[in-house]
Amino acid sequence: MDKLKVFATHEFLDKFLQNLNNSYKVETFPGKNINREELLKGVVGTSAIACLLTEKIDAEVMDRAGKNLKVIANYAVGYDNIDIKEATKRGICVTNTPGVLTESVAEHVIALIMTLYRRIAEGDRLIRRGRFLGWEPDLLLGTSLKDKVIGIVGLGRIGRWTARLAKNIGMRSIYFNRTRNLEFEEELDCNYHSLDKLLSMADVVSLSVSLSEETAGLIDMEKIKKMKRSALLINTARGQIVNQNDLVLALKNKLIAGAGIDVFENELEIPTDLMSMENVVLTPHIASATIEARNAMATVLVDNLVDALEGRNPSCLINKEVYNYD
Ligand code: DGY
Repeated sequence: MDKLKVFATHEFLDKFLQNLNNSYKVETFPGKNINREELLKGVVGTSAIACLLTEKIDAEVMDRAGKNLKVIANYAVGYDNIDIKEATKRGICVTNTPGVLTESVAEHVIALIMTLYRRIAEGDRLIRRGRFLGWEPDLLLGTSLKDKVIGIVGLGRIGRWTARLAKNIGMRSIYFNRTRNLEFEEELDCNYHSLDKLLSMADVVSLSVSLSEETAGLIDMEKIKKMKRSALLINTARGQIVNQNDLVLALKNKLIAGAGIDVFENELEIPTDLMSMENVVLTPHIASATIEARNAMATVLVDNLVDALEGRNPSCLINKEVYNYD
């Protein structure tokens, strides 16, 4: 019997797929940035695609893979890069990697807040530019995090862990979510508010919603104007949740005090305006980039992929309809 092909789109994933048993033939793209043409070529005849959040997996890719395709295993918790409807229509499982990057992303949220409030990146730049002329009482005065209110938009795993970390460093949390979580409210003494109310109350607004039709452009000029002028905006979710032009304009006009941004509308075109602002901290989509999280994400991906190929129900299946759930 022919071996089932498993196609991985990035060399990083290769070592995690090497333990698959003999019934599979793993083909890994031998590099880092697969282009569309290489993707379309690589998936031909494959039963499984192990892919990254930067790759658009749409009907064309599924067509190219052909009728053998059983599973698309995304190496991310977000799956806005995959056409879920199209996959579901074809009975293809789509899986993601939730639960194992929660702490890392939440830690990054707190790191961005600390970097902004305590002006760490500015201090680093000042020293490197040779401008540190010795201790001064008012050099780079920052803001203490204690008693500041963090407004968490989206109370999934990452939002909840962020609230826990925030509490441990003396911040207070409020949240907005589609549904309320009374148990969580009680546990962390964390109040629910409408989005507008949260924006008007928070010293720091942190976005932890996934990207969907509902959340695309959620934070635009109208919403930013509801924030305090002293507030920070932190985005570790997806760039498209914030209207980036509006954010740049708001920062230029000092409508808010700063921003910590890990995700962008277009990762290959970061606005130069953002790069020149001292009150903005930019990181290159690394919120989940810890050794622990990235290894665990790969393990979860492989488990999902093998379960789907062997007819079991993958634990991180997104389109549960393919298994005809009740
Ligand atoms: C995800 O998993 O969706 C994250 O954006 C990766 O950092």
